[in-house]
Amino acid sequence: MRKLFPILAAAVLLAACSPKASQAPAEEGGNAVIEAIMARRSIRAYKDTPVPRELLQQIAECGVNAPNAINAQNWAVRIVDSPDYIDGLTAIYKEANAEMVARNPNFKNMFNGAPAIIAVAAPNTTISGVDSGLLGENVMLAAYSLGLGTCCMAGPVRFMNTDPKAAPYLKRLNLPEGYDLLFVVAVGYPDESPEARPRDYGKIQFAD
Ligand SMILES: Cc1cc2nc3c(=O)[nH]c(=O)nc-3n(C[C@H](O)[C@H](O)[C@H](O)COP(=O)(O)O)c2cc1C
Repeated sequence: MRKLFPILAAAVLLAACSPKASQAPAEEGGNAVIEAIMARRSIRAYKDTPVPRELLQQIAECGVNAPNAINAQNWAVRIVDSPDYIDGLTAIYKEANAEMVARNPNFKNMFNGAPAIIAVAAPNTTISGVDSGLLGENVMLAAYSLGLGTCCMAGPVRFMNTDPKAAPYLKRLNLPEGYDLLFVVAVGYPDESPEARPRDYGKIQFAD
């Protein structure tokens, strides 16, 4: 039996990663973590329902439990759910991107219409970027497990980091000196369930 275990474990893992098994809920004997990884999708349409602050806090705490180099925790996480902030910044964004916004009849705000964001900043070093990326995925998987939708977004961050009119909003994040805003995770109750975008499993190879 001991010899059989690795084979059985590999078979279970392979089955869990197939699209069919990824839909099997944990209570039916599926694997909750693998199900979440395989089923999470970027959400670009949200309900207006606000996200309770306890949930935003909880998913941010899952974020900072990500592995990070020498546990230095070189990151800053800011939760924003204030309509004053999101709508005020969006008004500036709309002014600067009028044509693009006009082309999207469903445009609600610059964060894909989400009622909240979790902004992630780090000192400008390569390894902090890795730490922050891992943090972001933890946030998104935790959110998924709680019925929330998310989308990692760099587009709005480019705007926040470069448009002079957005500077007061960047300042309101109160980031430590020398930290750059890297990405935001839009968070809200999903109003769509998009199909998975195709993945190229050919990128994975065993190397001898
Ligand atoms: C660093 C990064 C930046 C991204 N920026 C945006 C963005 O600005 N707007 C957006 O709608 N999606 C953005 N995405 C989401 C990707 O488009 C999405 O993850 C990818 O197409 C795969 O789809 P999936 O997340 O549904 O599996 C970003 C993702 C990452 C990791």
